Amino acid sequence: MSTNSLLLFVLAFLHLSGLYTKTSGAFSIEEATIDDLQLAFKQNQLTSRQLVAFYLKRIRRLNPLLKGVIEVNPDAIFLADKADRERKANTPGSSVGLHGIPILLKDNIATKDKLNTTAGSYALLGSVVPRDAGVVVKLRKAGAIILGKASLSEWANFRTNGAPSGFCGRSGQGKNPYVLSATPCGSSSGSGISVAANLAAVSLGSETDGSILCPSSYNSVVGIKPTVGLTSRAGVIPITPRQDTVGPMCRTVSDAVYVLDAIVGFDSNDVATREASKYIPHGGYRQFLHPLGLKGKRLGIVRDPFYNFGNDKGSVLIKQTFEHHFQTLRREGAVLIDNLQISDVDTITNGQSGESLAILLEFKPALNKYLKQLVASPVRSLADVIAFNKKFSKLEKTKEYGQVLFEQSEFLSRNVSKVDAILKKLVSNFKKLSKNGLEKLIKKNKLDALVAPSTSAVTSVLAIGQYPGISVPAGYNSEGVPFGICFGGLKGSEPKLIEIAYGFETATKVRKPPTFKP
Ligand SMILES: *[C@@H]1O[C@H](CO)[C@@H](O)[C@H](O)[C@H]1NC(C)=O
Ligand SMILES: *[C@@H]1O[C@H](CO)[C@@H](O)[C@H](O)[C@H]1NC(C)=O
Repeated sequence: MSTNSLLLFVLAFLHLSGLYTKTSGAFSIEEATIDDLQLAFKQNQLTSRQLVAFYLKRIRRLNPLLKGVIEVNPDAIFLADKADRERKANTPGSSVGLHGIPILLKDNIATKDKLNTTAGSYALLGSVVPRDAGVVVKLRKAGAIILGKASLSEWANFRTNGAPSGFCGRSGQGKNPYVLSATPCGSSSGSGISVAANLAAVSLGSETDGSILCPSSYNSVVGIKPTVGLTSRAGVIPITPRQDTVGPMCRTVSDAVYVLDAIVGFDSNDVATREASKYIPHGGYRQFLHPLGLKGKRLGIVRDPFYNFGNDKGSVLIKQTFEHHFQTLRREGAVLIDNLQISDVDTITNGQSGESLAILLEFKPALNKYLKQLVASPVRSLADVIAFNKKFSKLEKTKEYGQVLFEQSEFLSRNVSKVDAILKKLVSNFKKLSKNGLEKLIKKNKLDALVAPSTSAVTSVLAIGQYPGISVPAGYNSEGVPFGICFGGLKGSEPKLIEIAYGFETATKVRKPPTFKP
């Protein structure tokens, strides 16, 4: 740790202790849930303006250390005042859901306001988006206040292979607020860091393979990776429309479910939302927040490869924690079906499914489509982005981290013939692997969900199948770094996953706020 970051750490710690002992008013914003905040609004203990001011102050103090936020919205206070006026006037919808609640968005989610949308890259700084992303339209309709943009692994970790998780050119290295020297994981690193450290009430991340589940795990927050198409990807800087999905990252299951309720549904700018709309239950998802949601649920455990921990002391501790959680799940009424196998799971998890190749082939056309629809932009194609990174290598740390995935995607699209035919074959293989894999396993054993460590290769099973998953805080390793438990299921199984996740959270309550250990 450099003297500089040590100083920041000490400052952060002092400020934090100050906040813990804050005496003004009975209400504490730290760790407050949406329900807590709405109640405090209602009882005139809190205004949205005070809430936004609290987060802005905290971002100013802690973000130099944590780097979870790239930009704050210069209009956040103005928007908070508007929410307060609406609440006072009792306008319809002004005392429910996300009304007056500040949210941070991963920096690949477009907003048509003063905020930039850059995927953490200088190449997109100054680009002008045509409109709010589909999920942002829905958030604003639900009354949420866009507080700012969260940092991420640059380009959602699809620029290169060599960069550390949570690094982007524009804001540098995001830090894990529990153990500063540990990875925050990515690519939705800033979303995880920020809600974990109470820099915002709630946040959005996005996932192609692991990018919500992994940082949720490492930052002790709840992440929902929805079925692909349940939430609109319009206006989200893409990797591949076949796997990309936008979801909430919050401190509790209920907060995540409230955000999910706000962002799901049809968007004419994303065709996949039409098909997936059929999964949305009448009355939304909050009805599945049952404290006894685990009763009668059948949960499958696939030990190999998901629980293949090492034999060192740290790994043994994690393994024991999961065994303990299995007992808790049983005690709460779930039926665990152990030692199951997913057919061809190695093909899916060790990269032989062709997932990487498919994404490389799909990335360039998807990105170019996004860049073309911008009102103004320094770059208009993947080739432009590659050239930008070469030219401004200091700015973008190209020298250190390179851009090998960009280059491979560009190379393949130019030099490989019959791209469409190859993709067709790969995608049909993913369908076959998913049908014979997770789908068969779940149907044959009448499972409600699979349960696995959130950072295991289960993310690839969920990714190629376009399946949903929820990560819930499950423990802390011997160094104090958090880890999560993931409940995954078939397309549209969010209601069951929410019941299970909420039941688990209610029974365990593992999450605690970070302590910024060096
Ligand atoms: C967006 O980027 C521009 C530079 O192009 C900068 O001047 C502006 O402050 C940024 N917006 C915010 C909200 O930080
Ligand atoms: C392959 O594509 C690249 C552009 O990415 C081009 O520079 C190169 O000449 C091509 N190579 C071959 C063998 O066609």
